[in-house]
Amino acid sequence: MRHPFRVVIVTGVPGVGKTTVINTLSRLAEEEGVKLHIVNFGSYMLDTALKLGLVEDRDKIRTLPLRQQLELQREAAKRIVVDAGQRLGRDGVLIVDTHALVKTRAGYWPGLPRHVLDELKPDMIAVIEARPEEIVSRQERDETRYRADIGGVEGVRQLMLNARNASIASAVHYASTIAVIENREGEVETAARELLNLIKNL
Ligand code: AP5
Repeated sequence: MRHPFRVVIVTGVPGVGKTTVINTLSRLAEEEGVKLHIVNFGSYMLDTALKLGLVEDRDKIRTLPLRQQLELQREAAKRIVVDAGQRLGRDGVLIVDTHALVKTRAGYWPGLPRHVLDELKPDMIAVIEARPEEIVSRQERDETRYRADIGGVEGVRQLMLNARNASIASAVHYASTIAVIENREGEVETAARELLNLIKNL
């Protein structure tokens, strides 16, 4: 049911600030001597998609035909675990920055279905949330990314609700804990501290 190292999956709707919280978590963990190996699931998918000439950037992955996304998802999960096994011993923690639910052109699609969980075997699934209005304003301020297809405040609200439920459904398979963490405006450090404290108690 578990890898020798602990596995924490961090989820949240696009623009909620997962990657920002994880970057702060990395600094706090280093200060406290907690060994982390941090990976972005989308980057693994993008790496393969770029090699195959399927997309030009990460925001195009969710527009691919679903069977292609499925293949990229399957391969990413396998590669993440192989890499983590080479880097982490029993005392390490694998942090996976990903999504519990992806808004695709064919409908909501699970980021953590059974075949992904069979690879990752998560100890914890952390759900990062914020007020939908704040998320949309972060999306708009972040000019490096395209997130307009998520659908504004109402689209974000719906996705966040469904993504929280999808996280809980995924947690059932490997008896993972669920932690919902609020990433309030201007308070990334508080969210990262909360996540680190939860990780230390695993
Ligand atoms: P992915 O790689 O996960 O996207 P990402 O780069 O992590 O970015 P997100 O769009 O999720 O944003 P974020 O929440 O990390 O926000 P950020 O920290 O940047 O996904 C790429 C694609 O890969 C997906 O679309 C999907 O197609 C695919 N994919 C991934 N996992 C998959 C899976 N399991 N199965 C299938 N497909 C999968 O922050 C945004 C902005 O907000 C920044 O400007 C930041 O400065 C600001 N900000 C953050 N926190 C705060 C705060 N507290 N106060 C003020 N500003 C803040």
